[in-house]
Formats: sequence, structure tokens, C-alpha cells
Amino acid sequence: MMRSIEVLFSPAESAALAQRDLGRTACVVLDILRATTTMMTALANGAEAIVPVAEISEALAVKAKRPEVLLAGERNGLRIRADQTGGVDFDLGNSPREFLADKVRGKTIVMTTTNGTRALRACAHAETVLIGAFLNLRAIVNWIRRELPPHLFLVCSGTHDQAALEDTLAAGALCERLWPYYASGQVADSAEIARRVYPLLQSDLLGAMKHSRNGQRLLNHPELRGDVYFCVQRETLNFVAGLQPDGTVRKIASDVPAPSGDTTAFYSRPPA
Ligand code: MLT
Repeated sequence: MMRSIEVLFSPAESAALAQRDLGRTACVVLDILRATTTMMTALANGAEAIVPVAEISEALAVKAKRPEVLLAGERNGLRIRADQTGGVDFDLGNSPREFLADKVRGKTIVMTTTNGTRALRACAHAETVLIGAFLNLRAIVNWIRRELPPHLFLVCSGTHDQAALEDTLAAGALCERLWPYYASGQVADSAEIARRVYPLLQSDLLGAMKHSRNGQRLLNHPELRGDVYFCVQRETLNFVAGLQPDGTVRKIASDVPAPSGDTTAFYSRPPA
């Protein structure tokens, strides 16, 4: 079967996935600022599972059935408060730096964010759904090199209705490193675009965030600006997490090594 690779830049494209056949497809969902980075951090700090839901009402419904879960998420970047829920303050916002081990170890966290959790739900019918972050790029790349899903969708969560620079850069980083495995198949122009943008900005991701709408918003907020520094760190985590058939996000592979005998070097720049 001919492999294919495609990047979905905007929420409208991920919403349209409902009409697409995602059999034999792996989706990597990217919400660098901040939802997927936060999920990876929560799992790294010992959270048992994350239940991503699109709406506040869905999160409250899970809490009503399972009082032991933690509620997390944001609207307009800030933790969801009692006046938005009819009386319940969420336990956590969407800052990865809040998800410390003493708060999340052993916990199931129900999470709703503006874009990230919606993008994840939009991919739920794919054969595989992985959680993407700069924190664990190499582990994702090694997992994909090992499993070689025939169809690979890099799903950028975006900012409100628009594409997001930070998600596009992470998609580009994955395209660059996976190019040897997919370039001879069907390559969408969106993958070519992302792959060619990443090398232009990869040496200063933090600087690039100053030109992203979500990056600017967070950098201008005294309590949230540290999140941007946190989210552009690369290769701090060595595991892969995915959305399970029961709707939870969990660790699915730890210490993911490169496939044995695979000596393909990562490209540092796209070939001319
Ligand atoms: C989202 O899911 O839209 C983002 O993670 C927003 C945020 O930075 O909180």
C-alpha cells in the first residue's frame, strides 16, 4: 500500500475528519500551546489517564458520575471557574507547570480546552491517535518509524478558528524527520509546506512564539508567560501517549528506541 502524509492546519480541517475514512491511519494531534504539552506533562508526572472532552458540560457530567476525578481546562486561556459552570471551580487550568506530581499522581483528569481537546475528539475514529508535543518528538518519530502507519495525519489544533504557527512548526519537525519514510508516497502540499517552514525557524522556537497569536497572548500574561518557555523545550520526555478506544489518553510506549538496523539519519534541513 502506498503511504501518505498530510498536515491539517486548521480546526475546520480537523472537524471535516468526521467524513474521512481513518482506517489504517495514525493521527498525531498537536496543540503545542498548550493542551497536548500539558497532557504529556501530566502523564510524565504520574497521572493515570486524561479524559479529553470538548465541552465544559461533558466534563461536569463525568465528575458527577466519578467524583474522584480532577477537572482541568481553560476558556480564554484561564482556569474554568464557578461562574462558568454553575458553581464548580475546576481543579487545574491548562498550564503544564500546574500539573505537578503531588497534584496529579495516580489521578484521572477530565480536561476541556478551547481547541486541543476538540481536535483530539475529532480524530477519535482513527486507528491510532498520538499526543504530540515538542517535549517528546523523538519518541513519536521512533514510534512511527517502527510501526509505519500507512496513512499519517499531523493534526494541528490551531488557535480559535485559525492555523497556529507553533503547531505548524511541530508538524514540520515531524515531517522533516519522517520524510525518508513517506516522501515516496502521496505527499500533501500541506506536509511540504510544514516541512519547509520548520528549518527557517527551528533554531529559535521561543523567538518564533513572539509571532504566534497564542504565543503573544501567553507571553503578555505575567502568570502564563513561563508556559511558552516550557512548551518549546525539545526532547525532555521519552514516551508516547495515545487516545484509547475507551476515550482516555494514556502512556502507550515508554523508552521508544529507533527501530533496530534503521540507520536513517534525521534530516537537519529538507533536501533541495
Ligand atoms: C487550546 O486547547 O485551545 C489551548 O491549549 C489554549 C491554551 O493555551 O490554553
